[in-house]
Amino acid sequence: MDKYVLVTGGTGYIGSHTAVALLEAGYQIVIIDNLNNSSKEVLSRIEEITGTTPPFVQADLRDTDTVHEVFEKYSVTSVMHFAGHKAVGESVENPSMYYANNIGSTLSLIEAMQAAEIFTLIFSSSATVYSSTALSPFKEETEKDPINPYGMTKYLIEQRLTDLIKTHADWRIGLLRYFNPLGAHPTGRLGETSIGTPNNLMPYLMQVASGKLPKLKIFGDDYDTPDGTCIRDYIHVADLAKGHLAALQFLKGRTGAHAWNLGTGKGTSVLELVETVEKVIGYPINREITSRREGDVIEAIADPSKAYAELLWRAELTIDDMCKDSWNWQQQNPDGYSSTR
Ligand code: NAD
Ligand code: UFG
Repeated sequence: MDKYVLVTGGTGYIGSHTAVALLEAGYQIVIIDNLNNSSKEVLSRIEEITGTTPPFVQADLRDTDTVHEVFEKYSVTSVMHFAGHKAVGESVENPSMYYANNIGSTLSLIEAMQAAEIFTLIFSSSATVYSSTALSPFKEETEKDPINPYGMTKYLIEQRLTDLIKTHADWRIGLLRYFNPLGAHPTGRLGETSIGTPNNLMPYLMQVASGKLPKLKIFGDDYDTPDGTCIRDYIHVADLAKGHLAALQFLKGRTGAHAWNLGTGKGTSVLELVETVEKVIGYPINREITSRREGDVIEAIADPSKAYAELLWRAELTIDDMCKDSWNWQQQNPDGYSSTR
């Protein structure tokens, strides 16, 4: 029987969906989160969906002693590490905060894991580690050259984790490079919240669709793509969650550090996503074309074939599913977790 999986950042968007997937697969989990970007209400929602309220410790991961105590108390055998800051724009404005939190919390986690002799770790990396001039589809060995501090923290953490193998041959590390996560739990009880005005396309679109924001700005329609707007590889958060379980299963049989792209391998333009949302909600989205956003790459699409070959994982849900589930979440929770039903 598996002992506990520690889920850091488990009350956040991707961590909460993965927590549910772990519980549904029969794992026992414990969550550490400092609630910097999430709500305790998530624990009740996890309980509603799974019938289990996982043990929760509100703490900053940089508090190494507390992390160590959690390891001892719950006999943790593996860790899924989601905790960290994730907003690209904010990382440009305040790089120190990103280096201190993302790198500091990972170093603290490693120290506590080493002390407790826990050697299995799955890390939330990102497609932002790839070079902005690399051509899609990105393979795992595609050139890395992050262009913002957020992406640089992911890259540096990947290097640090890969280095661990040199000091202890028992380490089993999964580096999961997510492309663009969208969607929500099909019940509408878990989803993505944004503090203030959202920066990412789908949360912004949802707020325009629900009348909370007046208009979507499409950042450029003069790119060298079929409709002139940028192309991304959007992936449903439920598919991402399953990728984590597949990686954990893989690492049971193997040591070493392994990177996998978690994407669909399919590109969708900004306009195509807007049109799919319009189809789902049944009315047009108020929008205007504005100038390009600084730092946007034209196209970012995964080559997910390594994940399929090694993990037997592939994304199954469609752009339609992502838009339907995001809209269901938005309607049930217009103010995120502070909404009442
Ligand atoms: P999220 O903000 O919803 O979840 C992160 C959680 O970590 C939050 O609940 C926050 O309170 C917690 N946290 C942050 N710093 C902490 C610390 N020092 N100690 C304890 N808890 C802390 O973000 P998410 O979208 O669920 O992303 C999860 C991970 O996936 C992040 O590492 C992010 O960088 C990565 N990622 C996200 C995306 C995306 O578009 N959402 C894409 C690629 C990678
Ligand atoms: N976009 C708009 N209008 C908006 C918001 C976005 O036109 O109001 C466009 C962007 O220009 C881009 C596309 O929608 O072409 C997607 O933008 P997002 O901000 O939703 O996503 P990004 O691809 O810029 O980055 C996201 C996360 C990163 C993560 C990366 C992984 O913000 O944290 O995906 O590929 F690493």
